[in-house]
Amino acid sequence: MSHKTFKTLIVEEQGESFTRSIRMKSLKELPDNDMLVQVHYSSLNYKDALSAIGNKGVTRKYPHTPGIDAVGIVVDTKSDTFSVGDKVIVTSFDLGMNTDGGFGQYIQVPEDWALLLPDNLSMKEAMIIGTAGLTAGMSVLKLNEIVKPGKGEIIVSGATGGVGAMSIALLKKLGYQIAALTGKDSEHDFLRQLGADRIISRQEFENMDDKPILKSEFAGAIDTVGGVILENIIKSVQPMGAVTCCGNVASPKLNLTVFPFILRGITLIGIDSQNYPMWLREKVWLKLANEWKPNNLEETSTEISLDELDEKIDLILEGKLKGRTVVNLQA
Ligand SMILES: NC(=O)c1ccc[n+]([C@@H]2O[C@H](COP(=O)([O-])OP(=O)(O)OC[C@H]3O[C@@H](n4cnc5c(N)ncnc54)[C@H](OP(=O)(O)O)[C@@H]3O)[C@@H](O)[C@H]2O)c1
Repeated sequence: MSHKTFKTLIVEEQGESFTRSIRMKSLKELPDNDMLVQVHYSSLNYKDALSAIGNKGVTRKYPHTPGIDAVGIVVDTKSDTFSVGDKVIVTSFDLGMNTDGGFGQYIQVPEDWALLLPDNLSMKEAMIIGTAGLTAGMSVLKLNEIVKPGKGEIIVSGATGGVGAMSIALLKKLGYQIAALTGKDSEHDFLRQLGADRIISRQEFENMDDKPILKSEFAGAIDTVGGVILENIIKSVQPMGAVTCCGNVASPKLNLTVFPFILRGITLIGIDSQNYPMWLREKVWLKLANEWKPNNLEETSTEISLDELDEKIDLILEGKLKGRTVVNLQA
């Protein structure tokens, strides 16, 4: 088995620059962990693109195979929890960061990074959801503890992105009114199909009054971009509303006063899906597979092969991808 070779994306460091190529690699070169999984699908996340261009905050050592998401079949294991033939989901922890990830046909991972694929999900559906869907699920779970449907609109930023699109689909399923904040004028139909009731231009939120607090408009928010957009969202949320924060594609910086918090009682909720405990992941995955499963999952996604990944990595870095991009490793 260890002599077997498999197809994988490899990112290499060459001086100041980084190159990407599809190569064959031996199973022997995978890290020595509990479980060998034949990957059927992965998905492309913003973090994967950062790893693929040599961002040392994500991946310290190269050569490396990115891919923070994988679903596949256990083909060899030292684990008591899983058996050969089990279908498992592995997302985040260190997968695709400093452990070779889902952009290869095999991964070798510790057993406690894996969970059984829920009954009501196909392997492809699990990767349409992926880390973006899990993050959206955790955001919706936390937001729902404070803001119930019927209290007013929830604004979702980065609306056409992976986390944004999945958040809209989930909020719709739970009966919320949704305002989608987007920079893409061409994707309003896509957003309405997902469940957006109203569409707001990103430009509007990038150029608002520089006041410490703005007109109270939204019951809550799911922010995926950070920076000035998150600042203006927090300033525009109604008293006792809540805002989740998971991303920084616009900027990691926040320039705020305390007034939205001490005059309106706004709650800011941090989301870190990488380090959430397994019991919480399992709880969210079960919801995503059952009562929260979006009706239009396939419509939120595009399927590609490993050979088509390179151009999609450039597009996600430019903020030009729409919805979820699923990678079929067996194509
Ligand atoms: N904390 C966690 O656990 C966690 C988990 C997953 C992801 N994340 C983070 O969440 C963020 C979104 O991830 P993703 O996978 O959904 O990424 P994505 O698919 O690339 O979506 C990001 C979206 O943000 C918008 N956008 C792009 N550039 C922008 C800019 N300069 N200013 C404002 N908006 C911009 C675009 O949507 P529109 O064109 O529609 O505006 C884009 O599609 C990333 O920062 C990622 O690292 C965090």
